[in-house]
Amino acid sequence: MKTQVVLGLVIVIYILIFSNACRFDPLVIPGDPIDTTDNPIDTTENPVNTCNPDTVYFSRDVLPIFVSNCALSGCHDAITREEGIQLTDYDKIIQTGDIEPFDLSAGDIYETITEDRTDKRMPPPPKARLTNAQIATIAKWIQQGAKNLSCNEGGCNTDNVTYAGTIAPFFQNSCNGCHSGSSAGGGIQLNNYDGVRTVALNGRLVGAVSHASGFVAMPQGGAKINDCRISQITAWVNAGAPQN
Ligand code: HEC
Repeated sequence: MKTQVVLGLVIVIYILIFSNACRFDPLVIPGDPIDTTDNPIDTTENPVNTCNPDTVYFSRDVLPIFVSNCALSGCHDAITREEGIQLTDYDKIIQTGDIEPFDLSAGDIYETITEDRTDKRMPPPPKARLTNAQIATIAKWIQQGAKNLSCNEGGCNTDNVTYAGTIAPFFQNSCNGCHSGSSAGGGIQLNNYDGVRTVALNGRLVGAVSHASGFVAMPQGGAKINDCRISQITAWVNAGAPQN
């Protein structure tokens, strides 16, 4: 009896070792380098810039002006909708903003942003009048048909980011409607170098625009700014926020 048991065990062990029953297919080890020799990923070549310098692109050029000057709480945001006008996104701007494509004199918007009488002007005091460049952008957009166009700016260049050439003009369009003057959001002034420098060096600027936790996400009420802009702002802050 004992010999039969031992013999049985030997046979079972023999089968286990020499049969295919317990062999596994080789595992794919996670993190194995992927062979890219046939299909290399090119990170150096920039995608082609498709933006035409004579065309106004809604999401890049126009929407930030509306978001930071008009779509504010108590004004033309989705909640207040003053006089039924909501200026938060393309569809709402076209539906409620009284814009006549191609015709500057037909709709109300151009008239109110260029109005000389301050009690009739938009944005109303104490908000500043839109800058001439902003008014020109909106006018050109309407004259080009008030379309919802976008373009690809090509590769992202984070070298040679300057305060005067990159940072200040961007804030002017996207932030300063809320971050200048006596009612500046959070008391933060972004229309002068010292104000920008303060939030750059205390970490609030990059925290807010990259929507990091612990910061109030900016631009308030608007879409997150694009990754290239965030990289450019971060590069400038990391360089010590120079007044260049
Ligand atoms: C629609 C108005 C509005 C726009 C547009 C806006 N902000 Fe703000 N921002 C505010 C308000 C209001 C606060 C104060 C929020 C609070 O303290 O709750 C604030 C706070 C901040 C803060 C401090 C955040 C923190 O966590 O301490 C930074 C930095 C900032 N904004 C940067 C920007 C930048 C950069 C832009 C443009 C890309 C921008 N903001 C666009 C209204 C705005």
